[in-house]
Amino acid sequence: MHLIVDRQELARGNMIALTVEAPAIAGKIKPGQFVILRLHETGERVPLTVAYKDIQHGTLTIVFQVLGKTTALLGSLKIGDAIKDLVGPLGLADEFRRLGTIVGIGGGSGIAVLHHLLTGYAEAGNRLIGIIGAREKDFIILEEEMQVLCERLLTTTDDGSYGMHGLVTDALKGLVEEQLAIDLVIAVGPVVMMRAVCQMTRLYKIPTLVSLNPIMVDGTGMCGACRVTVGGQTKFACIDGPHFDGHLVDFDELIQRNNMYTRDEKSSLLFSIRAG
Ligand code: NAD
Ligand code: FES
Repeated sequence: MHLIVDRQELARGNMIALTVEAPAIAGKIKPGQFVILRLHETGERVPLTVAYKDIQHGTLTIVFQVLGKTTALLGSLKIGDAIKDLVGPLGLADEFRRLGTIVGIGGGSGIAVLHHLLTGYAEAGNRLIGIIGAREKDFIILEEEMQVLCERLLTTTDDGSYGMHGLVTDALKGLVEEQLAIDLVIAVGPVVMMRAVCQMTRLYKIPTLVSLNPIMVDGTGMCGACRVTVGGQTKFACIDGPHFDGHLVDFDELIQRNNMYTRDEKSSLLFSIRAG
């Protein structure tokens, strides 16, 4: 059992950060790796990328958006409640090399994952420029934390209620038009956002890393649920990823696979709400 020691509501749109005791995982996990949790004996297994770790206190912070039945249940937990199982670290850790100038792009709850990844690249001595975007002002998360990490941070909102009016790709276009020499773009967020970023960076020949979060079940490469096509080859995001060269990812297939259970998830959430 993993005790919940802190709970924060980060933004509107049911974005929640839970800090849980997990000293064995906190001691080993690297930015970008993830855990799979199960709330009870018969519960669904949910993969979540870790947003922050505290080795001294032996805790992990996970940030998630309430979207389906299990995340709704997770979001209803309070300080003092516990999560039954937490397995990790899972996935490959990045090699945090010194590359030069890195532009990190985060959309929605993907900003939390991006922030943790960028801490690894900051420690390696890279110059970081951040772009974070959300639908509207109240959905922006971790802006102050990103400001601490990045030499420059551009914030966008789709409706123009805060920062630059537009999508994260509009801010990226602005940087490219400034003739900024970019050595790597890292994009974490909705799949359509990562696809749009990659379409743009391919044009400008900027290497691009994306963090994929397809449907996962076992997290150990056995079930095939997280299958993605990268460079024409089948890869399993849980053991070969979750980070891939974005220019090689078949995003259309990923979108199709991710949408397969959308209707079931919605009806399961509705059923659990009605059941109280
Ligand atoms: P959202 O749909 O509100 O989008 C967030 C931002 O992404 C937008 O403000 C916009 O700037 C950008 N964006 C969205 N669509 C775009 C497009 N077509 N072109 C260019 N930019 C676009 O995001 P949300 O509702 O907060 O959802 C967050 C998503 O992030 C979820 O789908 C979740 O699964 C995903 N996520 C991914 C990871 C990961 O590891 N890849 C981690 C956490 C969350
Ligand atoms: Fe089963 Fe990746 S989650 S193979």
